[in-house]
This record gives sequence, structure tokens and C-alpha cells, in this order.
Amino acid sequence: MSNTWSDRFDEGLNPFIERFNASISFDICLIEEDLDGSIAHAKMLGLQGVITSDEAKQITKGLDQIKSEALAGTFKPEITDEDIHYSIERRLIELIGSLGKKLHTGRSRNDQVGTDIRLWLRKHIDYIDQDLQRFQRSLLQLAGDNVNTLIPGYTHLQRAQPVSLAHHLLAYIEMAERDRNRLSDVRKRVNISPLGSAALAGTSVPINRQYTAKELEFDCIYANSLDAVSDRDFAVEFVAAASLIMVHLSRISEEIILWASEEFAFIKLTDRCATGSSLMPQKKNPDVPELVRGKSGRVFGHLQGLLTMIKGLPLAYNKDLQEDKEAIFDTVKTLRDSLQATSILLEEGLIFCPDRLLDAVSSDFSNATDVADYLVAKGVAFREAYQLVGRIVKYCLNAGILLKDVDLQRWKDFNPLFEADLFDKIAPMQVVKSRLSQGGTGFDRVREELQIWQKKLNK
Ligand code: ARG
Repeated sequence: MSNTWSDRFDEGLNPFIERFNASISFDICLIEEDLDGSIAHAKMLGLQGVITSDEAKQITKGLDQIKSEALAGTFKPEITDEDIHYSIERRLIELIGSLGKKLHTGRSRNDQVGTDIRLWLRKHIDYIDQDLQRFQRSLLQLAGDNVNTLIPGYTHLQRAQPVSLAHHLLAYIEMAERDRNRLSDVRKRVNISPLGSAALAGTSVPINRQYTAKELEFDCIYANSLDAVSDRDFAVEFVAAASLIMVHLSRISEEIILWASEEFAFIKLTDRCATGSSLMPQKKNPDVPELVRGKSGRVFGHLQGLLTMIKGLPLAYNKDLQEDKEAIFDTVKTLRDSLQATSILLEEGLIFCPDRLLDAVSSDFSNATDVADYLVAKGVAFREAYQLVGRIVKYCLNAGILLKDVDLQRWKDFNPLFEADLFDKIAPMQVVKSRLSQGGTGFDRVREELQIWQKKLNK
């Protein structure tokens, strides 16, 4: 029989229920945070005179020893320990005797677990920020090498207007930057201390919440103890921010998968990042971006799971909240793995095919807007020019030719304003070069953007 509970219990748990109830199998990864929280709490109890300073020292020493055991891999909690909080308290009592029983004064597992998960998530938000920066740097490197490489730009997945490949890649750097900003905003709401709210109502023990908050580098403390122990909004916000990162990774993955297909053939996958088929010897598959695209689903699932888990909870702590952990842990793991895999893919997994790309931007009507803009520059109203170019495109389609193949006399028949300089203006390189509006794909603009990002990311 486990002796976790107070003497009001006569009988031990049914073994299945014991396992069902326990969280130690997954909350073991909160060990460092739980120890840090306990050390801060013990120090505070000592300073407040709730325990003597010598007692505080002995408790802290015991907790430090458990830290070393954890690092050495010798700390092995049992299922009977139920969760990380109990397992540490037990080990502490084993190590320093009944003095260990004073640690839990003025504290509950409810404020304790809230403290642990916030400390853990805060640390991992910082790791994810690093991962996002690596992702941005991999994109930037590829963009820097491909300012003058053109790629078809699409709307509705129909060829629209050619763009600089660097411009295309820079779009993902922008998304990642919003992701970083969102995470740093979420971090503010993660970094609030619930410690000292006790079970739900605060405590009559003369604790000092500001002290523990400062020790643990929280920005401030929760103002309301009921809110403090039952708030998981920060978890929802984090998984929502993670979901958007997965959306962005899934979108670039989808593009890479399309580009690697024989139909597009814009890139080749290197052997280091592609996989074969067990049956078809000719296959080279984009498993990496497919997995990233697929994994986005489980992160969205965690978001739904958390929202549903919280929505019916009366104040304050309910055991349902134990379910937050696996959602948060799996989100962090899935997200970090996906960011790393995508960065590796960008760094060493893709080879762009310049001939095929040039051919793609030269063999369509994606310069039609530029013919209209040519007339606009000569004073023709855009809508009129647009209608005329539509007619010219139709003429080309019937004749089986492209705009560049129409001879000057024919152009002049359509509108005498056309001159020989038109041919230069509708060549793909010129088409891209001319889009110099702010945020546009014109090479000068793209180079400026690249410089801004190089400064920002390489500092
Ligand atoms: N393992 C629990 C959790 O993760 C710790 C808090 C338990 N509190 C309680 N009153 N049963 O939420």
C-alpha cells in the first residue's frame, strides 16, 4: 500500500487506478524545474523564519543532491511516487530525514505544478526561438544565393508573374519572424509566478511570494490565487503559436514536395535528405517535408485538446489539468524536430535546377501584365490596356505562340504605341527587375531586404 495520502485513508489504491492516476511517467521531465522551485521555496521559508536558516540549508543541500542524482541518472522514481513532486519529497525525506517533511509548508502541488510547467515552457520557448532563427538563417543563405534565379509566382496555383527565388524564400523568413514575436508575447504570460497560491486560497503561513518569484526569474506574480492555480491560458496560447509555426512549416513543405515532382521539377533532393521506395527502384521520395506536413496535424490536435480540457472546469484546480503536460511536451518535441528537419532540408537537401526554372518562366504568359503596364506608361487607361492584352493573349493561344514571338508589326496593328523596346520590357529578367514598389520582387528591393535580414540575423 502506498503511503502518499494522509491517515484518513485505510486502504491502498487499486493497482490499475494507481497507474491511471500517476503522471510520473511523463512529468519526470519537470525534475529540474521542480527542484529549482523547491529550493526557492525552502530558502524563502528560511528567510521568513517559518523554518530556521539551518533547516533551510539542509533542505537545499538535500535538493541539490537529488539534482546530482538526476544528472547522474541514478534518481529512479517508482509508479507509487505518483508524480514528480511526491517523488522528490520522498527522496528528500530519505536523504535528510523527517526535516524533509517541512518542505511542503505553505505550498500545494497545485501551485507547485503550475510553477514547474511555466519554468519548463519558458526555457523551451527560448530554445524554439533559437530553432526559428536557424530556420531563418537557412532560408537567408539560400535566398542570398538566388537573388537572380527566377521562379514562377502563382495565384490559384496558376502561373501568375515570375519572381526572384530569393523573394519567395524571404516570405518564409517574414512568417518566422512573426512566429518569434508571437512566442515572445506568449512568454510574457508564461512568466508569471503562481507559487505561494497554495491549494487555491493562499496560505496563513507568512510566506513571501515576491521573493520566490524573483529567485525563479519570473516577471511578476499572479494577483489571484484561484486564477493562479487553474490558469492554463498560457498553454493554449503557446500551442496556438506553435500551430501557426507548424502551418508555416507545412506550407513550405508542400511547396518543396511540389517542386520535387516530375511535373514541376524545380528542385532535386539530395541523397542525404530523401528516401527510396521498397518496391519501385526508380523512386526518390520527399519523406522529410511530407512528415513535417503530416505532423502539423497533431499539434493542431493538442490545441483542440487543451481548449476542450479547460472549457468546463469550475475553479480552481481540477485533475483534468494534469492532461496539459503531454500536450505541451509533445507540441514542443514535434515543433522542434520539424524546425530542425526543415532547416537541414534547406541547408543540404535541395538543389534548385536553374535551366528548368528559366524555362518555366520563359514559356508562359506570365509577362502579360507587363504588356499592359507598358501601355499604361504611355498613357493608356489600365482597364483598356488589360482588355487589349487579353485579346493579344487569345490571338497567341490560337496561333500557338508566346507574346515574345509576336512581331512588331502585329503589335502595332493591335496598338500603334507599341515600339521595339517592348521585347526587352517583357523578358522575364526585366519583368522581375521592374517591380520596384516597396515589398515587391524587383532585384534592388530584394537585395535591400536581404541586407536587412543579414544584419538582423547575423548580429
Ligand atoms: N500531477 C498533478 C498535475 O500534473 C500535480 C498536481 C496534483 N494536485 C492535486 N491536487 N491532485 O496536475
